Amino acid sequence: MAETRRAFLTAALAGGAGLVAGKAAAQGDPAITELQPWSRYLGDGVDARPYGKPSRYESHVVRRNVAWLTADPISSVNFTPLHELDGIITPSGLCFERHHAGIAEIDPAQHRLMINGLVERPLVFTMQDLMRFPRENRVYFMECAANSGMEWRGAQLNGCQYTHGMIHNLVYTGVSLRRVLEEAGLRPNAKWIMPEGADASAMTRSIPIEKALEDCMIAFRMNGEALRPEQGYPLRLVVPGWEGNMWIKWLRRIEVGDEPWHHREETSKYTDLLKDGKARRFTWEMDAKSVITSPSPQAPITHGTGPTVISGMAWSGRGTIPRVDVSLDGGMNWYRARMDGPSFDKSIHRFYFEFDWDGRPLLLQSRAHDSTGYVQPTKKALREIRGVESIYHQNGIQTWHVNERGEAENVEVS
Ligand code: MTE
Ligand code: CO
Repeated sequence: MAETRRAFLTAALAGGAGLVAGKAAAQGDPAITELQPWSRYLGDGVDARPYGKPSRYESHVVRRNVAWLTADPISSVNFTPLHELDGIITPSGLCFERHHAGIAEIDPAQHRLMINGLVERPLVFTMQDLMRFPRENRVYFMECAANSGMEWRGAQLNGCQYTHGMIHNLVYTGVSLRRVLEEAGLRPNAKWIMPEGADASAMTRSIPIEKALEDCMIAFRMNGEALRPEQGYPLRLVVPGWEGNMWIKWLRRIEVGDEPWHHREETSKYTDLLKDGKARRFTWEMDAKSVITSPSPQAPITHGTGPTVISGMAWSGRGTIPRVDVSLDGGMNWYRARMDGPSFDKSIHRFYFEFDWDGRPLLLQSRAHDSTGYVQPTKKALREIRGVESIYHQNGIQTWHVNERGEAENVEVS
C-alpha cells in the first residue's frame, strides 16, 4: 500500500501539480464569499423527517429499468445504480428488483413458514416462532444469473447500472436454515430441499441438502431493518454465493425430498444453452467477476487531466477477493488495484486505482482473482467454451472506452 501511495505522489509531482485537486484559496468564489440560503435560515426540525431520505440533490440516484427488457413491469427487472455507489453495502432502497409476479405485500401476522416432505415432524412457524431461534448476521452479495447476460454477443447496454446492476450486497439477520431443518428432523433419504415463495408466481427451486445445511439462512432483516417488500418481506431464503433465482423471496414453504423437482426455473430457465445445443444445468455458484463503476458511461471523468480515482467492485461465489488488476489499455498492461474496506466471504469487495490521467483515451478493464485462485476470464475466452446462446453466467472482463473529453462507452477489445 505504501508503494502505491508513493507511486501516486511521484506521478502527481511529475505532472507539476503537487496538490491533488484543490485550487489556490480565495479567488472571489461566491460559494465562499456569499452567505448561502442554508446558512441564513433555520432548517427542518427533528419532527420533519421521521424516516430519512437522501438529499434532494441525489434524486437522480435511483433504480432504473431498460424499456426493451420490460414487456410488463409485473414480471421484469430494474437495476442498482452501481456507478453512484461506493463502499460495499447496497442501500436498501437501491437494491435491484426482479419479480416474476410483482411485489407481494404480506401481512407478517398472517405469514407462515411450513417445513414438510421427508422430515420426522412437519412443522409450521409463525414469524414470532422464527424470532425465537438463535440469530446470525452475515454480509452476502446476491447476483441474478442473468446479470451481464445481454452482453454475451457484444457490448450492448451503456452503463454499469445496466450491464452489472443485477446485484446487491446486504447485511442479513436471520436464522440458520440448518437449525430450522433440524427442528423438523431430516429423514435419512433427505437429499434436496424445495423452497417456495408466497407471491403469485409461487417460485420454487431445488437446492441440494449439503448447501442447505452448510450456510443457507432464513433472513428477516436487511441492513438492520425489516426486509423491504421488494426483497421478500417478511422472509427470504439466503443462499450464499449461488445465483439470485434460488434466493426465494416471501418464503412460505420448504419441502424436503430425495431428488430435484426439475421445475421451470431450473429447466427451461436458468440453464445455459451451449454451442452444441446441450444445456448446462445446475450452474449454481456465481463465478468471480468485477467491474469499474467509476469512471463508466454514466459516470464520466468531468475534472479534466491529473489525479483520477478509479473505483470498482469485485465478488466471487466461492470466497473472498484478495486481488484485482486494472488495465488502462485494454488488457495489454495490468496494475494491481488497492483493495479497501472489509473483506467478507461471498460479499462484494471494493477496489481503487489512483493515477494521473494525461487526457489520452483509455480502455479501462478490471480482472478479479478469488481466494480459490480462479481468475476472471476475458469475454473471448468465455465465448470459446460456452458460445453465445446463453443469457446466464456471463462473468467476462468488461471494457470502458474513455475519450479525450472523459466520456465513457461500453466497448469490446478483440
Ligand atoms: N422469489 C420469488 N418468490 N419470486 C420471484 O420472482 N425472483 C428471483 C429471486 N427470488 C423471485 C424470487 C430472482 S430471478 C432473483 S434474481 C432474485 O429473487 C431477485 O431478488 P431481488 O428482487 O432482491 O433483487
Ligand atoms: Co434472477
